[in-house]
Amino acid sequence: MSLIPAKAGIHNASAGALKNGIPAHAGAVAELLNLPPIIGHRGVAAHAPENTLAGFRAARALGCAWVEFDVRLTADGAPVVCHDDQLERTTNGRGRISTLPLSAIRGLDAGSWFSASFAGERIPTLDETLTLCRELGLGANIEIKAEHGRGPKTAVAVAAALSRRAGHLPPILVSSFLAGAVAEFGRLAPSLPRGMLWRKIPRDWRKIAAGLGCATIHVGQDSLTEATVGLIRDAGYPVLAYTVNDAARARQLFEWGAASVFSDAPDIIGAAAEGLTGARRGAR
Ligand code: G3P
Ligand code: MG
Repeated sequence: MSLIPAKAGIHNASAGALKNGIPAHAGAVAELLNLPPIIGHRGVAAHAPENTLAGFRAARALGCAWVEFDVRLTADGAPVVCHDDQLERTTNGRGRISTLPLSAIRGLDAGSWFSASFAGERIPTLDETLTLCRELGLGANIEIKAEHGRGPKTAVAVAAALSRRAGHLPPILVSSFLAGAVAEFGRLAPSLPRGMLWRKIPRDWRKIAAGLGCATIHVGQDSLTEATVGLIRDAGYPVLAYTVNDAARARQLFEWGAASVFSDAPDIIGAAAEGLTGARRGAR
């Protein structure tokens, strides 16, 4: 797999690449963000329990330079790393994260469901995840998740956590399916790069992305065509496609000009990135 080391610091990420909040050149933005071809999805979800510290360490061990993870709020407003709003699938707990305090969430086992060898893994806080990413040299794509109406509040908590660690952050890219969360994050942390996430690109995507000052566009891989990737790139945005666990599909997306793919199994698709992305990502 192609390894591009993540740079420490983030303020370089958007400076120069964004003009009035609009990226001038997809390749330039990808270069400034130092986006690698493969971003570990939820850590590396095929190899370790998703969204756990063990998963982020496994991602680094597999050669990932960046990881994506999901952040949502506990009942007492703490940002924690978990994909589902419900605890059942990935922990031994029950109920909704948004109804439980951090102390209860931290008592849960988030590893045993995946394998006994991961027993004792916890749902990480955003803060400890950022510490680990920084230690490991991993870039962090923070995806803001929230139940209805809580997107902006979650963005406030994420921005506050990042602000407390200013100067000691790993490379950061914040994204969300929730435009309200991206907007609020952009208002509070305008110098940090942000991207809009869509399962399928909507008709008015240009207007939304420009209005939110997006640096990147993240799209469900199965909705992408060569024409769509070209359209987004031509508008100046790197295309990040989720979730790609098939080498042939990864190769096709890179050939079309995708900057990065999110993968649960970067080891399987690593070979698809070799020799392709370097040429394609910067090329116009
Ligand atoms: O951020 C890309 C991807 O993670 C979005 O979908 O449901 O896996 O969080 P999901
Ligand atoms: Mg996600």
